Amino acid sequence: MNLDKFFEKSWEDYIKITPSAKKINDLLREEGEDIVNDHIALRTFSDDRVSLKVFEDYFCKQGYEKRGDYSFPEKNLKANHFEHRKTPSLPKIFVSELDLEAFSLPFQEVVEKILNYVPQRATFEDLYNLTLPWKDELIYKDYQLLMKESDYGAWLLAMGFRANHFTVYINTLKKLTSIRKMNDFLKNHGFSLNESGGEVKGSSKEFLEQSSIMADTQVLGFREGKFEVSTCYYEFAQRYELPSGGIFQGFIANSASKIFESTNLR
Ligand code: NI
Repeated sequence: MNLDKFFEKSWEDYIKITPSAKKINDLLREEGEDIVNDHIALRTFSDDRVSLKVFEDYFCKQGYEKRGDYSFPEKNLKANHFEHRKTPSLPKIFVSELDLEAFSLPFQEVVEKILNYVPQRATFEDLYNLTLPWKDELIYKDYQLLMKESDYGAWLLAMGFRANHFTVYINTLKKLTSIRKMNDFLKNHGFSLNESGGEVKGSSKEFLEQSSIMADTQVLGFREGKFEVSTCYYEFAQRYELPSGGIFQGFIANSASKIFESTNLR
């Protein structure tokens, strides 16, 4: 799977389960905006079979390199972001990983059980193509058990290996030229913003402002029946010029920590 294929498959899959993102995309195009994707975010567990390292191997082979290291102790997450070496206009890739050791034994047992469905020596491409290797083992009781300790963990059990969000890069827009204008536009069209930590996360002093809508939901078939789960959300990012020159390309841990909550079930 080359990068074109990866981005194409990610977007197709994403808009299928995130109709709000498709709607916003269409609305922005009607306004005459050209949309540039700032980054795609992916989520995984710390287990060696599916860890961040497995993701890193793929993206580095595709010409990306690791640029940022982040940790989110209150959510037991760590993350890296990757930028393309030769083509900086390609979306950045933000990959986060849930530290399984921080959770209870029952939590770890559920994750161990589903990860036993991952083929031996699976690559990132294998994981991405399967999306939900444990789809025959989708149990709502397990989902609820993970949810008690981590919304992120429950989301991964239900949604698997796919883009968690795409991100509209505000800087290249012609009309909606600030995160506040974008937020007003979204609210006027009836979308719910993630308000955790305020509608705007970060500041120009931190060189990055972000916002996001709350994730869409979908009714998913579990072994016990059909239940509503969170799917994915759309994010918006405005980046500022660094005093040293060039636009800031990194992420702000405190802001990202709040953005993770966009998939919390309301
Ligand atoms: Ni993001």
